[in-house]
Amino acid sequence: MESKYITLSFFIIFLHFITFSNSKSIVKDLPGFDGHLPFTLETGYVGVGEDDAVQVFYYFVESERNPTEDPLLLYLTGGPGTSGLYPFLYQIGPLSFNFESSWKNNITLELNPNSWSKAVNVIFVDLPVGVGFSYAKTWEASRSSDSIVTLHSYKFLRKWLIENPRFLSNPLYISGISYMGIIVPNVALEIYNDNERGSQPQLNIKGCLLVSPLTDKFIDFNSRIEAAHRLALISDDIYQATKETCHGNYIDNDPENTLCSSNLEHVDECTNGINFSNILDPLCDETNMKPTCREAANIFIDAWANNKDVQEALNVREGIIEKWEFTNTSIRYNLDKEDTIYYSYDVFSSIADHQQLLTKSCQVLIICGDHDMTFPCVGQEKWISSLNLSIESPWEPWFVSKQVAGYQMTYAQSQYSLKFATIKGAGHSVALYKPKEAFAMMDRWLASHTYSSGS
Ligand SMILES: *[C@@H]1O[C@H](CO)[C@@H](O)[C@H](O)[C@H]1NC(C)=O
Ligand SMILES: *[C@@H]1O[C@H](CO)[C@@H](O)[C@H](O)[C@H]1NC(C)=O
Ligand SMILES: *[C@@H]1O[C@H](CO)[C@@H](O)[C@H](O)[C@H]1NC(C)=O
Ligand SMILES: *[C@@H]1O[C@H](CO)[C@@H](O)[C@H](O)[C@H]1NC(C)=O
Repeated sequence: MESKYITLSFFIIFLHFITFSNSKSIVKDLPGFDGHLPFTLETGYVGVGEDDAVQVFYYFVESERNPTEDPLLLYLTGGPGTSGLYPFLYQIGPLSFNFESSWKNNITLELNPNSWSKAVNVIFVDLPVGVGFSYAKTWEASRSSDSIVTLHSYKFLRKWLIENPRFLSNPLYISGISYMGIIVPNVALEIYNDNERGSQPQLNIKGCLLVSPLTDKFIDFNSRIEAAHRLALISDDIYQATKETCHGNYIDNDPENTLCSSNLEHVDECTNGINFSNILDPLCDETNMKPTCREAANIFIDAWANNKDVQEALNVREGIIEKWEFTNTSIRYNLDKEDTIYYSYDVFSSIADHQQLLTKSCQVLIICGDHDMTFPCVGQEKWISSLNLSIESPWEPWFVSKQVAGYQMTYAQSQYSLKFATIKGAGHSVALYKPKEAFAMMDRWLASHTYSSGS
């Protein structure tokens, strides 16, 4: 009798395992890194959606300073469709490739001295479903959209926090880069609203941190022409003529308006050879992956993440993902892209979400690289000024090591504040170009809100 019972409970435990609900483990070593990792890395899956049909993979790095009290950042990667492994290994995470040795076919990882984990706990996630190591158990669940990503991000975070309750009291910030500017404010808003509805446990939400965000699919893309003018890629004359004939709308020009079309062609001719990620960088194609193309390191991340030993070390479930891709190109957005069978781009602008955040106790930081033409600073300024906020401190330089690191401006309205900060010389993936400055801005801004004693 008893042995039957034991067999049955084993069977139930076994069932529990094969349904793969949630799982997590601490990663002590990683191929390419010499010795044990000197920081705490947890990876795992959290199930979201109906019957947990979406399995979201994540990388959680504990703060190397004071994990108990430092803020907790959920960091969403752009695209949409780029894996959380990208910021983990290239932008703000604890590791980066040693390029010298990696180019010699010896992929080697080293510590990133400007890792954000020196100051905060960070969760990098593979979202939307179909990105990185995240996957769906059914065809229905493999389809996603901006609204679904918002929901999944929130559900993921809530479940993760319930399983890791020791981080429930840390100040929580929702953050992300690029396309996630469409998603992040909405995730934050959901959390504020759910807290107000008395949902338990309460999440200790404090605000949002956005790097080079896409906020409005008209304003941000449209601002590229003005940015090209400011950065002297087009002349005054070209700019004025284009502006007048296109009436300031460079996105959906009426094809009958041939004057506008021909001016836009002139603009294209001037900017086609420019790398929009950072106007100072070369254009890199597959045949030109020289070490000067920073993200040519895509080659390394691709080889590394597809290595079976790496996947085993990260506790990736075997045999589910055929090939790990840096970016799922069927999900990735570009201007005017139509919905695909996998993804619906159903949010046009997050300005309305920002407007609702004004009524909350919410701190927002917007960082932009002043050499970025993807979503240029001038577009950021436009949508921010449309919020009609009062200025708390005017446009001024900010410094790192006594040098101007960029410019900043702060707005405030009762419990709400917004800081807009540029980083001089940086492109789209700000921390890739100016790691020290990006870290300094994040750290100082968080410190000014998190610790009232001002430590
Ligand atoms: C790979 O590079 C690392 C770090 O540069 C070095 O310690 C190691 O010996 C190299 N391995 C091979 C096989 O060259
Ligand atoms: C891209 O995402 C879709 C939708 O989830 C998924 O079916 C597909 O397998 C993904 N592609 C790759 C290369 O991972
Ligand atoms: C622009 O520069 C970045 C950084 O060097 C590089 O990764 C990217 O591939 C370049 N983009 C194009 C379109 O060449
Ligand atoms: C901001 O102010 C302008 C001009 O006063 C007004 O047209 C607009 O509706 C205001 N926007 C908001 C969000 O209050």
